[in-house]
Amino acid sequence: MNVVVLAAGEGKRMHSNVPKVLQHLGGRPLLRWVLDATNQLEKSGKTVVVVGHGAEQVKEAFKDEDVCYAHQKEQKGTAHAVIQALEHLKPDESVLVLYGDVPLVNPETLKSLIEEAGEDVGVLTVDLENPEGYGRILREDGKVVGIVEDKDASDDQKKIKEINTGIMVLPSAKLKDWLSEVECNNSQHEYYLTDLISMAVRDNVPVKSVKASDRWEAEGVNDRIQQNALERALQVKLAEDLLRQGVRLADKNRIDIRGKLECGKDVFIDVGCVFEGNVTLGNNVSVGPYSILKDSSIGNGTRIDAFCHIVEAKVGQDAIIGPYARLRPQAELSDNVHIGNFVEVKKSTIGKASKVNHLTYIGDCTMGSGVNIGAGTITCNYDGANKHQTVIGDDCFIGSGTQLVAPVTVGKGATVGAGTTVTKKVPDGTLMIRRAKDLVIPAWKRPVKQK
Ligand code: UD1
Ligand code: CA
Repeated sequence: MNVVVLAAGEGKRMHSNVPKVLQHLGGRPLLRWVLDATNQLEKSGKTVVVVGHGAEQVKEAFKDEDVCYAHQKEQKGTAHAVIQALEHLKPDESVLVLYGDVPLVNPETLKSLIEEAGEDVGVLTVDLENPEGYGRILREDGKVVGIVEDKDASDDQKKIKEINTGIMVLPSAKLKDWLSEVECNNSQHEYYLTDLISMAVRDNVPVKSVKASDRWEAEGVNDRIQQNALERALQVKLAEDLLRQGVRLADKNRIDIRGKLECGKDVFIDVGCVFEGNVTLGNNVSVGPYSILKDSSIGNGTRIDAFCHIVEAKVGQDAIIGPYARLRPQAELSDNVHIGNFVEVKKSTIGKASKVNHLTYIGDCTMGSGVNIGAGTITCNYDGANKHQTVIGDDCFIGSGTQLVAPVTVGKGATVGAGTTVTKKVPDGTLMIRRAKDLVIPAWKRPVKQK
């Protein structure tokens, strides 16, 4: 089986500078979805991707993908696009054609279409409540006899609800001849691949069809409205997958998964959460409303309160994060850690049961266990040119409003008084405090505004 994916179109109706097949669905380009589906098929050679509009951008986005490209300089239609791919095809094998803007097709559906088609023609169709914009399937005595494009259809044909998904199996023996016969005398002046169906009927090549069971498998992305409809359908499907696995969601319509979310048992996710990349939630994790987690893992029993932003971070078990906490890349939190509101942690490890509860920045820091960081503490890690490390030993108590000017070390069990600017090592078990003497000026008059 040869596989050809048509991806040369501009996608005018998207009104975007980004080529259509690079537009996103579930956080990934449309073409990514199609290639993931075709990669699950038995192919004889590489998938051929026909590129044209934004070809360089498309190739760059898929530079690690093992495909070959055919160039279609001008986008003269889907038949013209397939002609560009011909030289890359194995001559004695059928050709499966897919459209780069029909992303949610199921590999199992493709397999049944391929099986049904055999050496003949196969078309994947679906019944749509609103078939507007799609090519309609014409049948006589139940057999497919042609496809008419929406723009060329008569009023009666427009009433047909069975549409062409664009996914077809075509026999290689006839393909070249048929393609060379296609003309562009239609309303769009394009060379339609769909014209091959009536040619097959004329040449007595059986046209088989398979109906997709799920309409979303067949829906294309041509404008933002369709993109949004597909996105919502996909998200509900992903949410339902989670529900089936036993995850409790506050609302299956208010969660977005743009990547892979793995959950343990008895996980709860509140409304408005976004998961990107690879996120793992352990058993009994709860995620509060409107939190965003990207490429992170959260240990068993940890509670993430509302409005947290967690990116490339690792959180241990039974921790409490947020509300309003920000964990940035390489934040590594051990078990039982508490990170409170308006606390930012970057490239730091925080030991077991340490607490950083209010208004604090911890960056480039190695913190031991059992540490308590007072409100408004800042690791001053940046001197304007370089980043420096702060080391805080086990069981330290850092008073509120402390600045730790890195590189600096606070020894085990040390205490730092509130408001101290620490610039030198604090030895183990000591109290360091640096404050100006109190100055009390009686009957102080505040400045008044000059007229
Ligand atoms: C096409 C089908 C229509 C079907 C619908 C399903 C034709 C003539 N029509 O219509 O029957 O119901 O898809 O979604 O095939 N492309 C190229 N080069 C071109 C033109 C298009 O590579 O010259 C690519 C596009 O990038 C796109 C795909 O082919 O991925 C389909 O093209 P598009 O213009 O979107 O066709 P539709 O009008 O949606
Ligand atoms: Ca389309």
